[in-house]
Amino acid sequence: MPLPKGIRALDDLPVEGRRVFVRVDYNVPLDKARNVTDDARIRATLPTLRNLIDRGARIVLGSHLGRPDGQVKPEYSLEPVAAKLAELLPVEIKLADEPVGDGARKVVSDLRDGQIAMLENLRFSAGEESNDKTFAAALASYCDVYVNDAFGTAHRAHASTAGMVPMVADRGAGLVMAKEIDFLSRLLGDVDKPYIAILGGAKVSDKIEVLDALLERVSAIIVGGAMANTFLQAQGKSLGKSKVEGDKAPIARNFLRRAQERNVAVHLPTDVVVASGLDSDVTSIASVDGIGSDMMALDIGPATIEAYRKVVGAARTVFWNGPMGVFEKPRFAAGTVSVAQALAENRLALTVVGGGDSAAAVAQAGLADKISHVSTGGGASLEFVQGLALPGIEALRG
Ligand code: 3PG
Repeated sequence: MPLPKGIRALDDLPVEGRRVFVRVDYNVPLDKARNVTDDARIRATLPTLRNLIDRGARIVLGSHLGRPDGQVKPEYSLEPVAAKLAELLPVEIKLADEPVGDGARKVVSDLRDGQIAMLENLRFSAGEESNDKTFAAALASYCDVYVNDAFGTAHRAHASTAGMVPMVADRGAGLVMAKEIDFLSRLLGDVDKPYIAILGGAKVSDKIEVLDALLERVSAIIVGGAMANTFLQAQGKSLGKSKVEGDKAPIARNFLRRAQERNVAVHLPTDVVVASGLDSDVTSIASVDGIGSDMMALDIGPATIEAYRKVVGAARTVFWNGPMGVFEKPRFAAGTVSVAQALAENRLALTVVGGGDSAAAVAQAGLADKISHVSTGGGASLEFVQGLALPGIEALRG
C-alpha cells in the first residue's frame, strides 16, 4: 500500500552525502544492570539505517528513553542503546553527550558519508516534550533531511516528532513508519469480517476510548487482564481481592449496554486462575461466580481460553493489545500465550498485535513470524486503530 498522500518514502528523499536526522523510538526496556532486554524496536530500524548507510547519508539519530522529565539523569542515558545498535548493525555509533549544544554540534559536524551519530536522550531537555521552538530549531540545524521512523512515538506532538519537521525542507517516512501505516490502516478500511478486537491490561480507564471507537468497527470484543475484573464486578460478580476499578463500574455497564445495542458481542472470562497473592505458588481455577473472598484473579482460566480460541479461530481480522493476565509470572502467563497461539494458528486472518506486553508474549512464544504484523507501537497503535490522526505522521505531509 502506498504512503498517505503527501508523505514521501525513504527512497524518494535526496540523502546522498547529506545530514539526515532519523527520529527513532529506542524507548526499550533495560534491566537493573542497564542491559537492553528487548531489542525489537532497535532491530526494526536496521533496514532504514542500512538503506541510508548504503546511500552515503550522514545519519543523526534522535530518540527518547523513559521519562526523565526534562532533566539529565544518567540512568536514562542512551549509552546502552547505542552499544546495542553498534553490535547489531554492526558499525561504530558516535554518541553525543547531550541532545543539543556544542557537544552535539561537534559530533554531527564530524560525520562522514555513511557514518552514524546519536544524540543523547532528547527528553534530557524539557524542550522536547513541550515542543519548544528553540529546541526544535536546534535539532533542525543538525540536518538537511528529516526521516521519522519512530512509529511508537507518533502519537506525541514533541519537538523531534512535530516541531522540527516543517523546519527541514526534505522530509519523509522511514521503513518502520511506512510498514506500520500500511498494516494498521488496513484495520480502518473495509476489513474481512468477523473483525475481533482483543483488549487486555490493567485498567478500563486506560482503554475505554479505544473500546468505544472499536465498537463502531468490530464484530466482537474479547476482554482479558485486570480490566475484565471491572466488567465482571459491574455485572454483579464478587471478585475477592482482585484488582478492580470499583469507581469505573458505571462506565463498564454503559459500554456493555452500547455493545448490545450495536450487536457487538463482548466476551468476558467465565473462569480465572486465582491465588492468594501475586507471589503465591498455589494457584487454582475458579468460576467467575465463585471467586473466594481472599483470592485474586490473575489470569483467564482454561474454559475461557478455549472459548477465546474459538472466537479467534473464526475471525478474519484480529487486533490484539494487552495481556490476559499477569503474564510476567509464568504461572499466570497461559492465557496470554494461548491468545498469541490462537492468532498464529489462524492463517486466514489478518492478525495485528500492538503493545509491548502482547508483542513480547508473541516474541517469547516464537510466533512473531506467524502474525501478519507485530507493531512497534503501544499507545500509538491504539490511537491509530481508533482512526485518530497522529501528530508524528501528520507533520510529514507536504
Ligand atoms: C512508547 O513506548 O509508547 C513510546 O516510546 C512513547 O513513550 P511515552 O509514553 O513515554 O511518551
